Amino acid sequence: MCGIVGYLGTKEAFPILIKGLHRLEYRGYDSAGVALVDKDGNLNVYKTKGKVANLEEYCKDKDISGTVGIAHTRWATHGEPSDKNAHPHYSQSKNIALIHNGIIENYLTLKTFLISKGYEFKSETDTEVLVQLIEYMMQEHKLGLYDAVYQALSQVTGAYAIGVIERNNPNVLITARIASPLIVGVGEGEFLLGSDASPIIEYTKNVIYPEDRQVIKIERGKEIEIRSLDNEKLIKPEIKQIQLSLDDIEKGGFDHFMLKEIFEQPKSLNLCMNGRLQREQKEIILRGIQDYGERFAKARRILITACGTSWHAGLIGKYLFETLCRIPVEVEVASEFRYRNPVIYSDDVLIAISQSGETADTLAAMELAKKQGAFIYGICNVVGSSVARLTDSGTYTHAGPEIGVASTKAFTTQVCVLAMTALALAKRMKTISEEDYHRIVGELCNIETKINKILDQTEKVKDISKIFTYARNFLYLGRGFNYPVAMEGALKLKEISYIHAEGYPAAEMKHGPIALIDEEMPIVVVAPHYKMYNKILSNVQEVKARKGRIIAIVTEGDVEIRKQADYVIEIPETEECLSPLLTVIPLQLLSYYIAIAKGRDVDQPRNLAKSVTVE
Ligand code: G6P
Repeated sequence: MCGIVGYLGTKEAFPILIKGLHRLEYRGYDSAGVALVDKDGNLNVYKTKGKVANLEEYCKDKDISGTVGIAHTRWATHGEPSDKNAHPHYSQSKNIALIHNGIIENYLTLKTFLISKGYEFKSETDTEVLVQLIEYMMQEHKLGLYDAVYQALSQVTGAYAIGVIERNNPNVLITARIASPLIVGVGEGEFLLGSDASPIIEYTKNVIYPEDRQVIKIERGKEIEIRSLDNEKLIKPEIKQIQLSLDDIEKGGFDHFMLKEIFEQPKSLNLCMNGRLQREQKEIILRGIQDYGERFAKARRILITACGTSWHAGLIGKYLFETLCRIPVEVEVASEFRYRNPVIYSDDVLIAISQSGETADTLAAMELAKKQGAFIYGICNVVGSSVARLTDSGTYTHAGPEIGVASTKAFTTQVCVLAMTALALAKRMKTISEEDYHRIVGELCNIETKINKILDQTEKVKDISKIFTYARNFLYLGRGFNYPVAMEGALKLKEISYIHAEGYPAAEMKHGPIALIDEEMPIVVVAPHYKMYNKILSNVQEVKARKGRIIAIVTEGDVEIRKQADYVIEIPETEECLSPLLTVIPLQLLSYYIAIAKGRDVDQPRNLAKSVTVE
């Protein structure tokens, strides 16, 4: 939700800020803007509705200069997407400009107070309240910018990562965070801010990951100063190295990040399994289970919480842990879990799954479970993210940066981590035979090759996709391990093509969705050859009897479903519990190519953002 960038150094800031905004555009693209202090000491703000490209167009004939600046790409929360609600926001005197990612929860109280003091507001945003409050602190209490930001933030509740600059002091850039992501890059004579590392890596690999409730002063030619909002104490900055290269965040010859990330899955799964899967011995060594296996083994229940695609991975986790470890599992979307006063026991294990590690509802659900004594295990992709920091233990997915808004490689690596965790735990708990364990682990070693075989059928999926661009609705059916895959396939289609789609347990279709089926209706059936095959075959026949158009995902060599289906995509044979790693691939490709055929903006679908840092 919203991307922020900042620069203070010796170079012209504008091109650096714009490039940074492009890299963060996955976080929101309702409006964009920049603010710079120019060589004549003016604080200029340029902002406009729409994407970063619109901002570039808007700025192209302007003489923009300055070696300090801030920039923002927005996903609207308070106030519709518009020029006036775009960031940066000026203070009343136009001496200060501010960018913000997050929500100021008590903004109405603060706004009423500021209006009573004569402040006027130009936008409908919560952010403008903060910049006005900072100015009020400066004027009323005769404070410098750093102290004024500090005092203003002491009065604010909510979530934020902010960047602030001042007309009269082009040598200073202030930043702070609470519950929204922020990284500070420390280069040679220059400093950068970013919501993630992507705007920074081109300039430096040295970064600081500010903690929650820290206010940071970046000053030309000086050491960074960090103060905690809790006790005013000075904190020594700890410089870390980013493990990311430019290639990781570029399209690498693909038309879209989503397609690149679909094709990256063999590699990202390899990285995910690297050092954890011993291919020769057919063993899994997972630190989390080595160190905390006992805690898992004694768990009364495993609770899994997540949002969106990560929640779908969690649903597969239920099948994995219950089948392999015989531990009862409950899976719930984090936004429901956190607000329904759930029963949590101190001997529960809560697994939180999140690609970004910054999803507000998932973090809140984790905090709730932690307070009630549960053991918190995190599965996330972004190293050092808030999820990673909140956990007692966990496993990184190591998928590499995922930039396409529709999640693909994050999903398969999450399922892979869940499978490795369940297998390692099952071995430890002796709920799986040695033979089954080694056979399934051996199969995990083959997954990359098998995914490549599915990717080889891309042209075929593309051809099928073209046929279905007319559709206004889609139904996805699956059973067992592949029921969550059906849900994930439907979500992918909705997200990027704007076609309504539902994922359903195949047999449940009779209790409602069957009424929708006619000769126009496409039905994607995920039907690999496992123990429920005959059951799903009956479901397929029920669809056929009503003239539905069937696209079936089947195991290589399938005979029966092929007879009923209009189109068939084959996946190689594998263990049932690992099959979601294969069956989801054609569904990703299908949604990608349908969206392309419909002319959609696949990497930046309307209304969505990759990282939902507001509830
Ligand atoms: C957003 C994204 C989804 C993602 C979900 C959860 O809705 O568009 O792709 O699955 O958030 O995000 P997380 O980072 O917690 O996995």
